[in-house]
Amino acid sequence: MTKISWKPGTMVYPLPPALISSGSLEKPNVMTAAWTGIINSEPPMTYVSIRPMRLSHDIISQTKEFVINLPTVNMVTAVDFCGVKSGRDVNKFEETGLTPIASSNISAPQILQCPVSVECKVVDIKKLGSHDMFMAEIVSVDVDDNFIDADGKFWLEKTGLLAFAHGHYFSLGRNLGSFGFSVNKKRLALMQKMEKVDVMVKERKAIILEKRAEAEERPLPHKSKFAKHKKAIPFEPHTQKFDGKAKFKKHFSPNGQAPAENFYKPKKHSFKPKKA
Ligand SMILES: Cc1cc2nc3c(=O)[nH]c(=O)nc-3n(C[C@H](O)[C@H](O)[C@H](O)COP(=O)(O)O)c2cc1C
Repeated sequence: MTKISWKPGTMVYPLPPALISSGSLEKPNVMTAAWTGIINSEPPMTYVSIRPMRLSHDIISQTKEFVINLPTVNMVTAVDFCGVKSGRDVNKFEETGLTPIASSNISAPQILQCPVSVECKVVDIKKLGSHDMFMAEIVSVDVDDNFIDADGKFWLEKTGLLAFAHGHYFSLGRNLGSFGFSVNKKRLALMQKMEKVDVMVKERKAIILEKRAEAEERPLPHKSKFAKHKKAIPFEPHTQKFDGKAKFKKHFSPNGQAPAENFYKPKKHSFKPKKA
């Protein structure tokens, strides 16, 4: 392998194309931001870097509050839309069907359809050049209770989070091991075994039919030690229904048959921020 040296650039990926909500429940705004991440564990702290010309910049400078909402793959059209249209020109909630709901600790609203919403209070604003960095303390983490099992474990990997890398949106791949698995002998042996997987190509329709049958048959018949977790999780991400407006419905509801009364409406549970 030969490495080629490029001029400096923003080549650190993948990142979440987060939906940053701000303002109030009565007058909410949302923008997409990839320049976001964690900067401290105790207290839990985060940042979002925003160009001064954005409406979100004006709002957050004034209110000193924002929410980082993590979107899922079936929200990709809304995510892109919120990253190319300004709240100065359109009501992005109305256009996309995203739903603003109250947060637990701040006045800025969060987004119902996102399985994870991180409530933030700004503690400092650093002018960096093109962007201003809003450093913030995380004051609450709100998660969709559909992904919490009977033991209280939150199955983040089941939510179908969206990733952004080098100008493109991606879904996440396979789970390759948990934190620290490389120094746990048993776990390492298990993970190395799991590396030898056969890849089966299935028609999308066949997968949907299989999953539907599986959902109808719960409790699951197999005896794996994870069966109880599966029982506690009532749906898989691809079955989520979003309350999209007609313009976007075909993207949010891939099977095109989402009767209004069945739209996906998660309840959010609030957690105190935890150290990593
Ligand atoms: C994937 C993606 C990532 C983006 N990341 C950022 C970012 O980190 N910071 C920023 O200022 N703008 C970012 N943008 C652009 C803003 O989302 C966009 O300018 C938006 O229209 C601003 O909305 P507002 O004026 O309603 O605040 C991104 C856009 C996309 C599509």
